Amino acid sequence: MRKQINLNHDWLFYPDIAGYESLKLEKMEKKPQTVDFPHTVKELPYHYFNEKEYQFISLYEKKISISSEFKDKAIFLIFEGVANVAVVYINGAESFRSVSPYLAFKKDIANELKFDEENTIEVLVDSRELSTIPPFGGAVDYLVFGGIYREAYLRIQNKVAIENIYAYGHDVLKEKQKLTIETTLSSNQKGSLIYKLYEGTGETMDKHPVYSSIREKDQKKIRSTMTLENIKLWDTLSPNLYTLEATLVDISGNAVDQKKEVIGFREAIFKENGFYLNGTRRKIIGLNRHQSYPYVGYAMPKSMQELDAKILKDQLGVNLVRTSHYPQSKHFLNKCDELGLLVFEEIPGWQHIGDEVFKENSKVNLQKMIKRDRNHPSIVLWGVRINESPDDGPFYKEMNEIARRLDGTRQTGGVRNFAKSEFFEDVYTYNDFIHKGDNTPLSKPVDIMPERAPYLVTEFNGHMFPTKSFDSEKRRVEHALRHSRVIEAMMGNTKISGAIGWCMNDYQTHKDFGSGDQICYHGVLDGFRQPKMASYVYSSQREDEPILMISSSMNIGDHDGGDLGNIYAFTNCDYIELYKNDEFIKTFTASKTSPLKHPPIVIDDFIGEQLEKNEGFSKRDAAVIKKVIKAAASQGFNLPLKEKASMGVLLLKNKMTLDDGVALFGKYYAGWGQSQRIYTFKGFKDKKQVIELKRGAFDKVHLEIDPSKTVLTNDESYDVALVSLKAVSDFGEVLPYHDEVISIETVGSISILGPKTFPLRGGQSGFYVRSHRGDGQGKVTIRTTNLGRHELEFTIRDGGHLHL
Ligand code: GAL
Repeated sequence: MRKQINLNHDWLFYPDIAGYESLKLEKMEKKPQTVDFPHTVKELPYHYFNEKEYQFISLYEKKISISSEFKDKAIFLIFEGVANVAVVYINGAESFRSVSPYLAFKKDIANELKFDEENTIEVLVDSRELSTIPPFGGAVDYLVFGGIYREAYLRIQNKVAIENIYAYGHDVLKEKQKLTIETTLSSNQKGSLIYKLYEGTGETMDKHPVYSSIREKDQKKIRSTMTLENIKLWDTLSPNLYTLEATLVDISGNAVDQKKEVIGFREAIFKENGFYLNGTRRKIIGLNRHQSYPYVGYAMPKSMQELDAKILKDQLGVNLVRTSHYPQSKHFLNKCDELGLLVFEEIPGWQHIGDEVFKENSKVNLQKMIKRDRNHPSIVLWGVRINESPDDGPFYKEMNEIARRLDGTRQTGGVRNFAKSEFFEDVYTYNDFIHKGDNTPLSKPVDIMPERAPYLVTEFNGHMFPTKSFDSEKRRVEHALRHSRVIEAMMGNTKISGAIGWCMNDYQTHKDFGSGDQICYHGVLDGFRQPKMASYVYSSQREDEPILMISSSMNIGDHDGGDLGNIYAFTNCDYIELYKNDEFIKTFTASKTSPLKHPPIVIDDFIGEQLEKNEGFSKRDAAVIKKVIKAAASQGFNLPLKEKASMGVLLLKNKMTLDDGVALFGKYYAGWGQSQRIYTFKGFKDKKQVIELKRGAFDKVHLEIDPSKTVLTNDESYDVALVSLKAVSDFGEVLPYHDEVISIETVGSISILGPKTFPLRGGQSGFYVRSHRGDGQGKVTIRTTNLGRHELEFTIRDGGHLHL
């Protein structure tokens, strides 16, 4: 009934042309490239590029032939995402256009096609930043790379068909649940609609419907409510999904169309005292995500979109993602449904509201976003306001009305960066950057809101403390602690529903922002999604497996004056035992008063009872010496008078010289000139040791190579694997200053996105392997000067999808 033919391969691409009119001439002069979608108009260097490099007009061209057997059908040409403006020409005549870089657009082109003949589809893409298109017109702290960066396909269906299904559960916490389905047809025709509801999705879908119903229809829009029983709720912990299948039947009983929607039943409400999911109050710990990647910008296929959702939910353990600052890929959202990751989805824009045309475009974006995504159970809030834009009463009143009209089941939010803003939404969503390291982590909601309302912190940290994975340990730790302090403060305040950190990953940006190299180092992961220290603040809140990350390499030479200071265990363990060269030092326990389930455990004593045990000092003297040693470590041997006096008394009492005192410092604290120490950290849960980590002097370094997958499946389009690279010690510690140069080569039906030679940054990096069409094999050879030569094999499979 419906046939999808993918159009993601073998397009001719003419970059940087003057315009459609001049094209004939340019086509003769220029040799086109052959490209596949997702595609970026220009691959960029990792950093220090000129953002104007990709801001040009280009043309994509493909010849297709459609059999006349489809003459009486509707043939939709669909693009999932093109940045920024797209004008589609069919056989040389303009057909349709889009000015929404983040949303799909389509048209039934059946009347414009010549059947059984060659047709030319051309897409003129303007990647310049036109001021009528959100987010442009002002400064923007991110890049909107150009290109046909999501998939394109043809959908062939009957002319009378199901256009849209909006399905939502209500009364879901009651004994009998309700499901309302609003179906819109392409045109009216007598007949009926058969609804079937199945448990599960895709291959895991149960074959027997849990519910079915037949509705007579005699109009274009049909609204029906059904009563259900024993529905399994969708939750972050058990994300139960259902497949709703709607079949359109004509009066002779023939099925003319069928459409499936994945849905879930849940109740999600923000209240003044917090966020409730299925009646239970749940604190939101989230991260903001930019959909950009090194080199290729936005152009990444399904697997990479899905991987980001997995990283957020399974690795970082957050329960919500904000799609800052635009609607993101359907693959990402589908995965959020599947994994149980809540979503705050937001319209495109950044701080600036343009003219009336811009505002109209924003309204269209909002409508398209809600119509596209309102069946996703993971989405719990619509961002109807341009991120951090000033008040604009009439505009934002209308935006809220649009959202409520299209989806009465979800609340609205609108992200602000100032207090007491005009408020039309349901939830006051606020970017709170108050924390500077030594002050309050979060503002008081009453100081920010103009009236009482549900309250959600939508960003924190970010530009207040940009941190690179190759920064000093001190900075990387402080970055982590700032994330931890804010989350802890949020957890302790019942008026705050949650806090969404800025942000998941480092991202490319305009030259007015970032660290001067076109990168905002605001991520808890780097651009290749490799973890920074701060990421462990999030992952240590997980419960499914033991997590332990120690904030220090324990190298005194990397610390001012050789002072290790306080170090932190980011862990979900109850307590940590510290051993120095296998000798037990001390047990450190997580704070029991912290509102954070697993606050970082402070480790501030590397001597323990060694002075008593090994040197025979009394408990009291040992305590004084420890204090003096600590003071010496942090302030050098120019000790304050008080410490000097205590030390003097002690030395006299124990018949020791000053040199003996200095030796104690060396032996038990700094270890200068001595053979280096090995520290062992043992993590305990319920009194059982569950994890162990070593730090200190190590002998060997190796390259850890971790591909996200080794079987690449050509699905709607090509597939991509991320290969993570880390220089690690034999203790498994990532070595943050390792900058080995990596060279890669491929053979077989794969290739590399981006450069083939690059350094490790902060001891880590990654590269992307993409598949080419057809079943086959591929091999990547990784060469380094110091970390060996390695090989990785890939298998490429064709997913059996229809392609043109
Ligand atoms: C916010 C903004 C984000 C990002 C962040 C950096 O003001 O909403 O997009 O720029 O600052 O901290």
